[in-house]
Amino acid sequence: MKKHIVVIAGDGIGQEVTAVGKQVLDAIAEKFGHEFTYDEALIGHAAIEATGHPLPEETVTKSKQSDAILFGAVGHPKYDNDPSAKVRPEQGLLGIRKALGLYANLRPIKLFDELLQASSIKPEFLKGADILFFRELTGDVYFGEKGRKDEGDTAYDTMIYSRYEVERIAVKAFEAAMTRRKKLCSVDKANVLESSRLWREVVQEVARRYPEVEVEHQFIDAAAMLLIKDPRRFDVVLTGNLFGDILTDEASQIAGSMGMLASASVGDTTGLYEPIHGSAHDITGKGVANPLASVLSAALMLDISFGMKAEAEAVVNAVDQVLKAGYRTRDIADAQTPTDRILGTEAMGRQILNHLSVQVTA
Ligand code: IPM
Ligand code: MG
Repeated sequence: MKKHIVVIAGDGIGQEVTAVGKQVLDAIAEKFGHEFTYDEALIGHAAIEATGHPLPEETVTKSKQSDAILFGAVGHPKYDNDPSAKVRPEQGLLGIRKALGLYANLRPIKLFDELLQASSIKPEFLKGADILFFRELTGDVYFGEKGRKDEGDTAYDTMIYSRYEVERIAVKAFEAAMTRRKKLCSVDKANVLESSRLWREVVQEVARRYPEVEVEHQFIDAAAMLLIKDPRRFDVVLTGNLFGDILTDEASQIAGSMGMLASASVGDTTGLYEPIHGSAHDITGKGVANPLASVLSAALMLDISFGMKAEAEAVVNAVDQVLKAGYRTRDIADAQTPTDRILGTEAMGRQILNHLSVQVTA
């Protein structure tokens, strides 16, 4: 199969981890006889430096013309400490999600058995945890009207959802639940927020079309607690943009590290695949970032955008094998990990490639 992929590495460790994700795609192409071609595009701080804009028009055009996007990260500490900055790297990511209509963000929380000890949660509460988050990605307080008034002394962001926005992601989540354990938990704050009451109403309506799926509704505060108390009670979790942002960072601790979690942002057009972690400037350039979230994002791309099930499985197996062989990046190592098993970004990438039986040529 021929596929054209746009690589948008972005900022910070985005560059380092995406390079590994791309090598893995190349290895898969070689192993399975596919032809993947690539283009690169700018976003975030890197794009601001080069063009003055966090999302150059060219990036959107290239992305729309591609079969899938491999994304790194956006962000720069300079902006985090400057709340008055009008142009910000994150606008690039939000902009591309909106421009491509990527309304559904799938974040699978898969715990590799070997990493049971890497989590701060007791293993007996974790073993077997397997959650698929559906985070709505183009609505909510992220995209509602925002601004300042009273000469800047009052600020507001509007939490807003329309029926169709809730319905289309709910349908995706229910469809996924039907292929899994047929359990779905919808998370909102319907005891307080009007937008959450609409959310719940629509989810209840969609639920009637899926009588086999066991549905529960939880408030965000309770869901945050239950996720740590008993992660195995969850199968599919469906939630809005802001709650999903927060809950999935929390859920990353179930998988041992943010460095392990991949995500797929899909809608009606080109899918975008990215680690859930950020640009991590504290470790940028040190060669220690965990590339496995990018590698697993590549696996999601193969599976969801290209329908290449065996190829995706080969990648996930390679990750599994490398972890079984005892190799770790710093973030997933523990006191028992021998120092010669703690690898940097590139070395971890080479282990994955070895397991895909392809030698690195570069
Ligand atoms: C994420 C990130 C982004 C978000 C930021 C970088 C804008 O935290 O993808 O989870 O809030 O959606
Ligand atoms: Mg986030």
